[in-house]
Amino acid sequence: MITAFFDKLRAYTSSSGSPPPLSTDSGAIAELQDYLEKLDAAGRLAWASRQFGNRAAIGTSFQGAGIVAMHLVKQAKLRIPVFTLDTGLHFIETIELKAELQEHLGITIENITPAFTLEQQASEFGPELWKHDPDLCCQIRKVLPLQEKLTSLDCWITGVRREQSDNRSSARVLELNEDENGRQLWKLNPLVDWTRNQIWEHIRQHNLPYNRLHDQGYRSIGCHTCTRAVADGTNERAGRWTGFNKTECGIHTFLKVKN
Ligand code: ADX
Repeated sequence: MITAFFDKLRAYTSSSGSPPPLSTDSGAIAELQDYLEKLDAAGRLAWASRQFGNRAAIGTSFQGAGIVAMHLVKQAKLRIPVFTLDTGLHFIETIELKAELQEHLGITIENITPAFTLEQQASEFGPELWKHDPDLCCQIRKVLPLQEKLTSLDCWITGVRREQSDNRSSARVLELNEDENGRQLWKLNPLVDWTRNQIWEHIRQHNLPYNRLHDQGYRSIGCHTCTRAVADGTNERAGRWTGFNKTECGIHTFLKVKN
């Protein structure tokens, strides 16, 4: 009876062009993924805003995709909050860019800081933790603060794109994730199918502020302690954690994708 009702509801919503209902049932998630895959990035963001209100938020480190997502939100007059994980180890250029973007887009970006200052971290684990245990450093400065922030959200919006790396090539526009305590969380990757060129085309076309380090050979940009400029032609995330067998800081790997 209930199943028949939902089948009819789904048939109605897909024929009327409305989104399929949000449900954790795997068939329903697949249907919603198909629906969102066909929308453009602004449509995907508008869907998240309607569906989750201010329990959806963009997390950004002010790289290309984050800048585009924030700009699309402004263009579409959506009200989606934005936060950044401030590790205390960002380049001065990144810190300046945050201020520039806030002014340019007329928004306030929430700063999420770690429980430990750099001094506390050094006295607890020794100086320059990033040099001998970058995983632990990322855990303290990014993963744990993000986990805390995510408890206030139902949908985390990221700038993950399939083109960025092998790990990310199978990313979906919408994913249902579960944390180690069994809490479920939606993750929306509105620019998942955008290429690096499309991102930069959008930034240039709209004359948006961007991180000047990109003009100096930096591709993916994280903390100044663990990011290097690279020669042209290397992969998108080259220059991060050079010298370590590490390609992810951990914020995109602690949740398990359920769908
Ligand atoms: S990371 O895993 O190496 O840090 P990357 O720099 O490729 O990731 O960024 C991918 C996406 O992760 C960003 O688009 C953003 O959504 C999220 N992200 C990465 N770093 C931060 C940060 N410092 N604050 C908020 N979100 C971040």
